[in-house]
Amino acid sequence: MNIQNTVFIKSAASQSAFIRDGKPVIAFAGRSNVGKSSVINCLVRRKNFARVSATPGKTAHVNYFLIDGRVYLADLPGYGYAKVSGSEKARWAELMESFFASGDITAGVQIVDARHKPTADDVTMAEWFHGTGTPLTIVANKLDKLKKSEIEPNLQLISDTLSANDNDIIIPFSAETGFNRDILVRKISEFF
Ligand code: GTP
Ligand code: MG
Repeated sequence: MNIQNTVFIKSAASQSAFIRDGKPVIAFAGRSNVGKSSVINCLVRRKNFARVSATPGKTAHVNYFLIDGRVYLADLPGYGYAKVSGSEKARWAELMESFFASGDITAGVQIVDARHKPTADDVTMAEWFHGTGTPLTIVANKLDKLKKSEIEPNLQLISDTLSANDNDIIIPFSAETGFNRDILVRKISEFF
């Protein structure tokens, strides 16, 4: 698998636009501003591939990328941005419910902030992934912002709060420095 051979396919704003062509789908989820676009950019080794946005909470679409012609990366819209209106939140929830109900997720990657206890929205998202029965990879991003002594307890708190099970793995990660990029690439390659 050559993850640098990743191309944008399309942006889906509703269920009818979701891709169902039999290829595996790896869904990437995360709170707004957690660094989801940065993680994707880090994976493909391109600076502005998935846009690092200045206006969080403005992307209520599922963005599909195709990795090496064989596996989709579905970039789910960020959640939890405080300034989003009620109607935008409802639209997000409807889109996510239909996405998870569509039942064709091969694996989930949930990006959380390594510095903090996961939010209630993070917990809900992890429950949605667990509900599909697919393996969940938890990426604890922004690790570069942690002191060494904080790493172990924070990872434990993240794992406990998201009720990680034996099939899940948690990867301490930094999109900024590329720390553990190779581990995440290897994990994704399991779905090829
Ligand atoms: P939205 O698409 O707006 O929901 O945000 P996002 O989750 O895609 O986050 P994005 O990649 O746009 O990054 C948000 C901010 O966090 C940017 O200022 C990034 O530079 C910063 N950031 C992302 N990853 C890291 C990291 O690993 N370490 C540090 N220190 N900063 C990071
Ligand atoms: Mg983004």
